Amino acid sequence: MKVFLDTADLEEIRALYDIYPLDGVTTNPTILAAEKKAPYETLTEIRSFLGQEGVLHVQVISRNAEDMIEEAYQICNRLGSNTYVKIPVVPEGLKAIRFLAKNGMRVTATGIYTLQQAFWAGKSGAAYVAPYVNRIENLGADGIQTVCDIQNCFVRNGIATGILAASFKNIRQVMALAENGVASVTVAPAILRGMLENASVDLAVDRFINDFENAFGVSATMSTIAAVLEGE
Ligand code: E4P
Repeated sequence: MKVFLDTADLEEIRALYDIYPLDGVTTNPTILAAEKKAPYETLTEIRSFLGQEGVLHVQVISRNAEDMIEEAYQICNRLGSNTYVKIPVVPEGLKAIRFLAKNGMRVTATGIYTLQQAFWAGKSGAAYVAPYVNRIENLGADGIQTVCDIQNCFVRNGIATGILAASFKNIRQVMALAENGVASVTVAPAILRGMLENASVDLAVDRFINDFENAFGVSATMSTIAAVLEGE
């Protein structure tokens, strides 16, 4: 499963790329607004951190197809060809997705709450669909099952569109998709950090080191460790 980071906070991006093998960064207008500077300034910084090969997803803001298309070209001109343009699956969005996909642009169909939205976006040539797992669950439906249904629907209909599941409230939702072999997810920094936060693990690791230090009367540094291991 590919894992993207759903943020525009460059400090978080740097810190989490240092720990996890990540596959790219996704943003949306709300995420960019939180940075409190010109969105293209933020996006350019992210692009230069990722390099031209890194994958970045950026959402259009326009409401009609013609403007979405123009915005999509502007986004790719400013941020490079390895930028996926996110377009919401509403009627005008679907028109734009169809046009852009036909003209070779990589589109991520976003704002997906239902199987039928995913189906039409896939049939229109979107590179990815982004179902919103937690927002679906907040409506009383089953977000995990919706993503699995989309996956099945694409396989059975020969739709080559990938799934980039989004909007998670907890780790369980993310890992349930990993168990089901879903191709990719985008997660917020807090959820990603939480993946390796576990007081029991920290305690166990501390105990191992303390036992070593107490037994050999040293505090564990590379030189003392090497000497003790050699029996010096
Ligand atoms: C992805 O396409 C969405 O922009 C994002 O993941 C939504 O997440 P939220 O429901 O936590 O706002």
